[in-house]
Amino acid sequence: MTTAILSALPEEQAGLHALLQGALTVQHAGRSFWRGSLHGHAVVLALSGIGKVAAATTATALVEKFGAQRIVFTGVAGALADKVQVGDVVLGSAFLQHDMDATPLFPRYEVPMYARSCFDADSMLNASLLIAIYDYMTLTLGQNSINSRLVHAFGAARGVKTCVHTGLIASGDRFVSSAAEVQRLRSELPDALCVEMEGAAVAQVCHDYGLPFAAIRTISDRADDAAHVDFAAFTKAVAGPYAVGIIGNWLKNN
Ligand code: ADE
Repeated sequence: MTTAILSALPEEQAGLHALLQGALTVQHAGRSFWRGSLHGHAVVLALSGIGKVAAATTATALVEKFGAQRIVFTGVAGALADKVQVGDVVLGSAFLQHDMDATPLFPRYEVPMYARSCFDADSMLNASLLIAIYDYMTLTLGQNSINSRLVHAFGAARGVKTCVHTGLIASGDRFVSSAAEVQRLRSELPDALCVEMEGAAVAQVCHDYGLPFAAIRTISDRADDAAHVDFAAFTKAVAGPYAVGIIGNWLKNN
């Protein structure tokens, strides 16, 4: 079983790269793919780049060229729901393209010819990932004051415990960075927990191939006017280590 671990940006995956055993780099479709072993599992690591088309191309290559049998995405997202805070982790249960609009031919958000607007995460993958996330946040972060302080330094309210959420993730080809757009998305998609730029595309590719998909997103910002400020630093300092801890727990237990 080959497991693909996909992220948008190098910083989100740097820690996993450092742990990859017997790494073999393959160039394909203008991208790098890294085959190897992580905690005894055959994996292929890849970077999707940013946006839905780049993510779909990468996911398709992972399946067709590298024989990926399941894809897990790890990365960052902007908070949409009020209860979702910087430093929290969102495990997607379903994925929707918030910029999909083929009205009046199809209902708003519906993906034409699929008769649906959402693609689901694999429930078995999610069950095992939820345990891995929970263990990381309670056993590792709970004891690691350096990591906790990093999260707080990047905007989580001091003293507030970071949380895990499961629910709808909204993807679109836009870095959401205004309170007005957050308000619009909230009122149009009240169930959406966070916003990012790749998940729904990879979910659709996995649906097409009948393969399990899951995505874990660490909340880096509130998708408001300050969303870009600490984005790169957060990704490197917090989201990368989260991916190492969560994916590590998951592979060790499965
Ligand atoms: N990824 C992380 N933050 C984001 C935002 N505010 N909008 C879109 N994608 C994101």
